[in-house]
Amino acid sequence: MTGTGRFPHLFRPMRLGPITLANRIVFGAHPTGYAEDGLPTERHAAYYAARARGGAGLIIAEEQSVHPSDRPRERTIRGFDPAVVARHRKVTEAVHREGVPILAQINHNGGQSTSLYSRRPLWAPSPVADPAFREVPKALERQEISEIIDGYGLVAGHCVEGGFDGVELQCAHSSIVRAFLSPATNRRGDRYGGSPANRTRLLSEIISEVRRRIGPDLVLGVRLCCDELVDGGTTLEDAIAVARVLEASGKVDYVGASIGVSTAAPHLDGASMHIPPGYALFVANALRRAVDLPVIGAGRFKDPVQADRALADGHCDLVDVVRGQIADPDFAAKARAGAPEAVRVCLSCNQDCVGRVRANRRLGCVENPRVGREFLPALSSRRAGRDVLVAGAGPAGLQTALAAARAGHRVRVYEAERAAGGQVLLAASTPGRAEFGVLVRNQLTECRRLGVRVEYGRPVDAELVRREAPEVLVVATGARPRRPAWGRGRERVVDVRDVLSGRVRPSGSVLLVDEVGFHQATGTAELLADRGCVVEVVTSAMVVGQDLATTLDLENWCVRATAKGIGETCDHEVVRVGECARTGRLEVELAYLPTGETSGRTVDWVVCALPQAPLDGLYRALRRHPSVQTLRVGDCVAPRRVDMAVIEGERIGTSL
Ligand SMILES: Cc1cc2nc3c(=O)[nH]c(=O)nc-3n(C[C@H](O)[C@H](O)[C@H](O)COP(=O)(O)O)c2cc1C
Ligand code: SF4
Repeated sequence: MTGTGRFPHLFRPMRLGPITLANRIVFGAHPTGYAEDGLPTERHAAYYAARARGGAGLIIAEEQSVHPSDRPRERTIRGFDPAVVARHRKVTEAVHREGVPILAQINHNGGQSTSLYSRRPLWAPSPVADPAFREVPKALERQEISEIIDGYGLVAGHCVEGGFDGVELQCAHSSIVRAFLSPATNRRGDRYGGSPANRTRLLSEIISEVRRRIGPDLVLGVRLCCDELVDGGTTLEDAIAVARVLEASGKVDYVGASIGVSTAAPHLDGASMHIPPGYALFVANALRRAVDLPVIGAGRFKDPVQADRALADGHCDLVDVVRGQIADPDFAAKARAGAPEAVRVCLSCNQDCVGRVRANRRLGCVENPRVGREFLPALSSRRAGRDVLVAGAGPAGLQTALAAARAGHRVRVYEAERAAGGQVLLAASTPGRAEFGVLVRNQLTECRRLGVRVEYGRPVDAELVRREAPEVLVVATGARPRRPAWGRGRERVVDVRDVLSGRVRPSGSVLLVDEVGFHQATGTAELLADRGCVVEVVTSAMVVGQDLATTLDLENWCVRATAKGIGETCDHEVVRVGECARTGRLEVELAYLPTGETSGRTVDWVVCALPQAPLDGLYRALRRHPSVQTLRVGDCVAPRRVDMAVIEGERIGTSL
């Protein structure tokens, strides 16, 4: 059955104000970090064009700032700069060549920003500091409100000149308009504060100005925060009232429905795999029942089946698939072709999309090394048809194999274990993280499609290489746990990998040592707490699972850790582990780093998440082989995170 038959709701065309969409799949707005000097680039054009070519029904380009007082990120687009127009044209022409409409999101982040880049005070309805940035903004004066409205108009005008099919006002996660709408951040006593009508005034005036500038033939959408989940903030009822005002204005063509505030509930902005798919659909559903405007639903739509179901059930009229199309630009085309199983499903890991953008880096994707590089020609092999053996079917080995096969080589992968995936499989076995394992499933699907042979229970050694005599050997044997000096000779001092692989099964009280700062310690801590262990995590860092903040997982980890009774001790390192002669229990001495003061714990097990050591014996043995070109990739070069394994695999596989 074709996709249009299999997903009848997704592929039903629809009118959106003055334009027609071929299908209901939206590639919604998200900052990319691709701007240079505040202007869009060819990186943007190629990035959006790839999703348009891949079948998206509508693209909404990343947010542009409407005023110099708003520069939340280093690479924010200065929509008010007339120089954007020529750059916009390049972007819109590239997308229109694929026959797909493109809107521009425009915004002012108000107090949810920083003066770090602009060196100007933040502007907001009232001097209420944002909980994340903690910077007290300047309350807008009447004249400045007019400047903001004019800014929206100016930027909308630039979008028209730049060839966009319309604009979307971001009044959702992070926006001065949201701050005006919300009783939590709008404490004004003038005609822009107080009653709901007064709080909605700025939005209404912006809509009038923007509609005046774009005219009747372009789309105007408004993305609303439908539940701030903040004490005293905007509720769903408030948002419905605003949506009714928008509808009554006759100037708005659709509403987008999201929940949470970026800086107060960031884990709901780009929700990770710990939040259920479709978590924000209830607000879309409520808006749809309240108004006749088309509603865009958002939030962890990752596969066409689920997206079609949201439409079929009447929750929304359009579905935002953002990370789903970052990971696989051909998401829509594959669904349309009736091949949803071919979609490279997003993991909702947030590592290279949200994580990099929040660090002011260019957006990427752990699964898709081409993200942000679509404007570059795909690397091609100088000598196709080589006989390639990859040792190890972890993410680095599999990516090498599929990239090499794509480049025209004959590739086989030998894996010593009974399954592919290496550490990814272990990581995916911790509570709430099963979706991480989809990475390997996606890679294996692609390997199968490309004819790569993957064999299990086949360790590679020098003898095997001599017998099979490949032209190229790529060693992807990964890393091994490093035993801490303080744990030597203690059987119950183990690594998280020992626990996750089932080699040991700790019980009783467990001290988990987190020196990695990512999911290794926190995931294992949850697993053990779920099994009834009494768990404490100790780290030399200031926070357990420090880097979880980058993937929007920290807040939720803290909530879950508290619920599961997991203790956390920061700024401490393990100095010594002894064994009680009488009870056999482990006696752990910890040092408080700022003072060196020591304290003790008596536990049944110590489980370590520590930096690992490369497993590079095979590479070292064969690197000077006279007839087999021997390369290595991934953790056996240097143990890192999965994004680097995939990027390196792609690089090596395409360069053979
Ligand atoms: C890196 C990143 C940044 C985002 N920033 C914005 C933004 O500036 N404006 C916005 O309306 N939504 C933003 N979003 C939210 C997306 O539009 C979308 O609602 C969210 O990713 C949930 O959809 P998904 O699960 O399909 O990714 C962002 C999402 C990501 C992944
Ligand atoms: S980095 Fe992770 S969450 Fe982001 S698009 Fe890729 S797979 Fe999805």
